[in-house]
Amino acid sequence: MSDAFSFDLARQDVSHALSTVSSVCAQVKLDTLLLHPAPLVTTTPEGRRRVETLASFLDAAYGYRLHDDRLTRYAPSAGARYPTEVVTVARVDGRWRCAIFDFAERIFHEAADDRPGRDVAAFLGLEPDAAFIGAISVLWRTVQRYGMRGHRYCIVDAACVVSNLVELARDAGDDPVCIGPARCAAATRLMDLPASAPVVAGVRLDLARMEPPGDPRPDPGDALARLVVREETPAMSPLLKRVELFHARASLEAAEADYRPPAVSAPVRPPRLWAARRHSMKEGLAAPLPERTETDLIGHLWALVAQPPAPGRVRLSFAYLRFSGTRRLEEAWRYDASGAAAVTILRDADCEEIAERCFEGQGVIRAAASLVLVGPGRDDLSGHGAYLDACHQVGFAIPEFYRIAVALGISSTAIGGYSWNALSDYLLLPDFYPLMAHAFGRPSRPGGKQDTDAWQSHALAPGAAPGSRNPKSSSRRSS
Ligand SMILES: Cc1cc2nc3c(=O)[nH]c(=O)nc-3n(C[C@H](O)[C@H](O)[C@H](O)COP(=O)(O)O)c2cc1C
Repeated sequence: MSDAFSFDLARQDVSHALSTVSSVCAQVKLDTLLLHPAPLVTTTPEGRRRVETLASFLDAAYGYRLHDDRLTRYAPSAGARYPTEVVTVARVDGRWRCAIFDFAERIFHEAADDRPGRDVAAFLGLEPDAAFIGAISVLWRTVQRYGMRGHRYCIVDAACVVSNLVELARDAGDDPVCIGPARCAAATRLMDLPASAPVVAGVRLDLARMEPPGDPRPDPGDALARLVVREETPAMSPLLKRVELFHARASLEAAEADYRPPAVSAPVRPPRLWAARRHSMKEGLAAPLPERTETDLIGHLWALVAQPPAPGRVRLSFAYLRFSGTRRLEEAWRYDASGAAAVTILRDADCEEIAERCFEGQGVIRAAASLVLVGPGRDDLSGHGAYLDACHQVGFAIPEFYRIAVALGISSTAIGGYSWNALSDYLLLPDFYPLMAHAFGRPSRPGGKQDTDAWQSHALAPGAAPGSRNPKSSSRRSS
């Protein structure tokens, strides 16, 4: 690890002043992302069918859901900030069209002219029936709250959304290909997107092979109507600039090649249901998992990391930490691709102490029956490009963890809020660099947590925010 890279990583630890949590909780509007956007209009039945297919897939992968009386989405997101937006390039009515999907209004906003769509299609070599779906990170949404480490959350968020799309597309008969991070960065430039809103992950689909997912769209209720808040990414924020530069450097050094992410380890059929059934644990019961469930869980997790990554990509491993009924750390195992499980620690540790020292005192740790840490070996993190790649791989693993939990009937929550230094020192894992943690446990009582609730308090409160519209009453739709 070079000094410059170590320096950049240190700034992303929760203990660093540039990565402390701040109480800002505003949304950032998305309709300024493309230059002079206009609603996408189609004039042919074939064009309408194509636009509707795309909208249905995007909705099923990343739409809103009302779950446990909370407005959340089909993909998890750090602090429920949802920094990911989606841009599509597809051939509609004989022209390559570049458009951003507005999930609240279920409408595509199209670029003012054909140039971005045409250029991206040519750059990616899209066949006439292919579509590119890019996950844009609106970095400020997350960075304003979490600082520099928000970058990692954004990449993981985006990969979760793309992973959902991959699953849906596979189920619909397609064999989708993910676009390498360096090519996503090039697509960002071709679309004239700002550095503060880069395409960080993407997938190429074959629309001719896909039928839209059949289930009706669940109704998230009126809460959606109040989500629109007039808060913009600041034109100049030193923190955001640092994140932009970090991302630009990482993208330049990252792998070019496209790839296929690992296949599902614990399929839930039909696949869109896993997202609807995903049940986060926030606090509550902390009973150990039944032995059989735990064996299956570890088996699925291992099957996932044992799959060879695409050539040239970082390999992941994971550590499995189990708490006893009295909330002591009972065992910690490290699993690598060879399946070898090594007991890494036997420190007499207490769950409470681990939560306080390593996880910012988060309640979700106290509710966990077990914790999984996932990431590359420290030696594999050779630099910025490898780090970005590892964040992607971990981002693809996280939704798999949720799917596995759904298949086993347990709850789970992705956790980004921990100190790597503290974890590494306290749990004696110096050669491992976990980029995410994941808690598993018994289904806990429904309910939110502070981050989610703060973000939504205005969306769910009686009375609309100023300037908000009801997507149902305005009823603008893709046509
Ligand atoms: C990158 C990332 C980091 C996250 N970090 C945390 C965390 O530190 N603690 C936590 O309780 N949940 C964390 N979550 C889960 C979100 O809080 C959760 O997905 C969000 O609140 C939406 O609620 P839901 O998933 O229950 O629908 C994280 C999710 C992602 C994708």
